[in-house]
Amino acid sequence: MFGVTHRTIPPKSYTHTVKQTALITGASGGIGLELARLFAGDGWDVVLVARSDAKLRDLAAELGRQHGITAQVIIADLAKPDAAADIVKTLTDRGLIVDALVNNAGYGLTGPFVETDLRLELEMIQVNVAAITHLTKLLLPGMVARRRGRILNVASTVVPAGPSHGRLLRDEGIRAVIL
Ligand SMILES: NC(=O)c1ccc[n+]([C@@H]2O[C@H](COP(=O)([O-])OP(=O)(O)OC[C@H]3O[C@@H](n4cnc5c(N)ncnc54)[C@H](OP(=O)(O)O)[C@@H]3O)[C@@H](O)[C@H]2O)c1
Repeated sequence: MFGVTHRTIPPKSYTHTVKQTALITGASGGIGLELARLFAGDGWDVVLVARSDAKLRDLAAELGRQHGITAQVIIADLAKPDAAADIVKTLTDRGLIVDALVNNAGYGLTGPFVETDLRLELEMIQVNVAAITHLTKLLLPGMVARRRGRILNVASTVVPAGPSHGRLLRDEGIRAVIL
């Protein structure tokens, strides 16, 4: 007979003897807000990042009250090229160490590429790509040095579905591949 291995799951209090902090971008709504609730529910301190000041402050108060954790707010517009550096400076000024980085803020634009607004697209690339790259670049070295850290990039099922977009373009007589 095969033996049965019993694994003891550490009690919640044990797993949380070391306080950890998660920074969640786009925490003012949608998936980011729910992720913030999940981290706080698991006893993590959270740093909530987005543009909507009042929503973030309300959420921080709610999470602190409900879970007894520390929830901090950093107001930032990730479409601004300096946003990631400003966020990390604020973290340093407040003496905060990020153990989990959740790159969640983002959005999509729709419409035929030939007609859409380039300014809006470049802004979206700044939020969805450049800010994530920049924030990760600034926070990862500390995680590596501490030998502790987690990064979650919230993306889209559209990413692996690239060929269907390619097909749409091919139907217009254009060959394109999204990697
Ligand atoms: N929901 C879906 O079906 C779906 C599908 C594919 C991919 N995704 C991806 O999943 C992530 C979350 O989606 P969601 O549906 O939860 O989005 P959502 O409800 O629209 O929330 C987006 C979050 O991003 C923040 N944000 C947007 N622009 C920002 C900026 N310039 N600077 C700082 N924060 C900004 C918003 O906060 P403020 O407005 O307060 O700044 C908000 O908190 C996004 O990256 C999205 O692309 C979602």
